[in-house]
Amino acid sequence: MSTESLPVPARAVDEPLLLYVNIPFCNSKCHFCDWVVDVPIADLRLTPVSSGRIDYLEALRTQIRTHAPALRAAGYRSEVMYWGGGTATVLTEREIEETYSCLAAEFDLSTVAEATIEGSPESVDLPKLKLLRDLGFDRVSLGVQSFDTNRLRRIGRAHSADQAVASVEAACAAGFENINIDLIVGFPDQTLAEVRDTVRRALELPVNHFSVYAYRATEGTVMRKQIQRAGIEIELEHQLKSYRLAADLLTEAGHPEYAVSYFGAPRCLADEAYYRLRMDWIGFGTGANSLINHRYLLNGRGRMRDFTSDPGAFEVNLPAAAESLTVQWLPRALSTAEGIDAVTFQRRTGVALRAACEEPELNAFLRQVKRFGDLVVDRDGIRIADADRSDVLSRTFAAMGWVS
Ligand SMILES: C[S@@+](CC[C@H](N)C(=O)[O-])C[C@H]1O[C@@H](n2cnc3c(N)ncnc32)[C@H](O)[C@@H]1O
Ligand code: SF4
Repeated sequence: MSTESLPVPARAVDEPLLLYVNIPFCNSKCHFCDWVVDVPIADLRLTPVSSGRIDYLEALRTQIRTHAPALRAAGYRSEVMYWGGGTATVLTEREIEETYSCLAAEFDLSTVAEATIEGSPESVDLPKLKLLRDLGFDRVSLGVQSFDTNRLRRIGRAHSADQAVASVEAACAAGFENINIDLIVGFPDQTLAEVRDTVRRALELPVNHFSVYAYRATEGTVMRKQIQRAGIEIELEHQLKSYRLAADLLTEAGHPEYAVSYFGAPRCLADEAYYRLRMDWIGFGTGANSLINHRYLLNGRGRMRDFTSDPGAFEVNLPAAAESLTVQWLPRALSTAEGIDAVTFQRRTGVALRAACEEPELNAFLRQVKRFGDLVVDRDGIRIADADRSDVLSRTFAAMGWVS
């Protein structure tokens, strides 16, 4: 095994850190999903007794033990924890305990202000949720997508609408008070009435945070192929109307939109960290990226065998100021009400915000944002002043040809 040393700073005393753990397994490969395009279905659906899954989880623990000492020595303080995927809750209770014990042995988790686990409705039950709560998770994020059972079947989900409701109720019964659900709106054949029904059903549940994504017809997904075969065009205006309807219903019900796709309170600290570059983060597992001391590190999604055979190495190690990265970070930051703060940007990436914005693609992007919205650039940073940032950014992405 080759071990790459982490590029930690000499002193990061009391610097906050986000700990991310990626579990690349799911019960289904959903037709729309662009998170797992690169994960072969046989790997995605590995069961707890399969050697591939056992080896992956062992490699994950090896990676944690390999890199934690350098982070501890630098003085980072664990502030946020997030287990995502794939579907982190497909892990068995034993797998959860083994992974958690490894992290707890390496990091002081008593300083963690928010610990989220991402799950799907069919992979959670009351005992598993109680275990997660007892371990210290205080936030659960469930991928519901829709409350229309017909829609759920057609998009390849492994659960019904009733199971989605039951999973939220079980999370509540297990003691979770911070619950998010993911919804998708703007499927090409989805009416506004269907969007309204789904949001109304979501609002009946004890949920305080909603992630509402406009459907992306991403290359490589089953649904994209179905749409192409049927000769259907994705209409931007239909998507914007669907998103706006969902946003208005949630806002009117007391769940304000604090970033495009994110509604409610408290804000998700993990997303705040990623979107506004508020702290460094370390990502463990395949598909997990890290931002440590101006460097970006990654183990590619779907490359399970490579990871398992060499968990100490990173496939990608780039300066955080590389334009291929800043063109992802700036648009994400601009989706938040506050935008990006110049001091924070420089602290995370090592380059001045103004200099990064002079890079050709980012510069072209910002020019397009100005066409569609009110881009404020001042000494403090950059933000979009329009109330409807989703509209501005969607039109900008379309103009940039970034819509898949
Ligand atoms: C890692 S999954 C969440 C948890 C869990 N795997 C589940 O599906 O229940 C991330 C979320 O991204 C969203 N998503 C995935 N593919 C998408 C697409 N093509 N368009 C819009 N949203 C998408 C879904 O809402 C999904 O819940
Ligand atoms: S939506 Fe969630 S469960 Fe479905 S394939 Fe994607 S990550 Fe897996």
